Amino acid sequence: MLTDREQWLLLCSDPTLIAAAVEECARFDTAIQGFRRVTTRPVTLGGTKLPAGATVLVAYASANRDEHRHARADRFDIRRPVERRHLAFGHGPHSCPGSRLARAQLHLTLELFSHVLPGLRLDPRRPLPSMRPTLIHRSPETLHVTW
Ligand code: HEM
Repeated sequence: MLTDREQWLLLCSDPTLIAAAVEECARFDTAIQGFRRVTTRPVTLGGTKLPAGATVLVAYASANRDEHRHARADRFDIRRPVERRHLAFGHGPHSCPGSRLARAQLHLTLELFSHVLPGLRLDPRRPLPSMRPTLIHRSPETLHVTW
């Protein structure tokens, strides 16, 4: 949120956007970039034939930037309709059982910070946030903020 000042100020001015902001943060910067799956039977996916027992990486982050699904997918916009589902918490029988807790935590965090510290911003005197060099979990290595 803090890398886009305009969106942060929009959120601070309109707390009804918090729920949508939680979904847009989850979609735009997908925390679990992808998970491994093993096919249980031969299947054709996106035109590629896979045998049973093939290992695939289901790239949630890539799906969340699919232009066919999300208009202007590379644009961070908390005004997107929340009904347009994303895959940040997976899908199907193994989708994240903690998603409601995670969403509630994110909601409370944004509510608190936007209300108590609307001046919160990335610290211009320190390096911008850098992400850990990992394949699966996307999270900041450092995050210097000021207010
Ligand atoms: C922002 C926070 C979180 C994100 C982005 C997230 C995302 C995900 C994703 C993408 C999956 C894989 C879904 C799939 O394979 O289709 C998953 C699985 C899972 N998550 Fe989360 N999660 C979060 C928080 C939590 C919390 C708070 C809990 C527990 C309290 C939790 C427990 C689990 C468990 C147990 C699984 C494995 C489910 C299974 O394999 O059947 N997660 N999560």
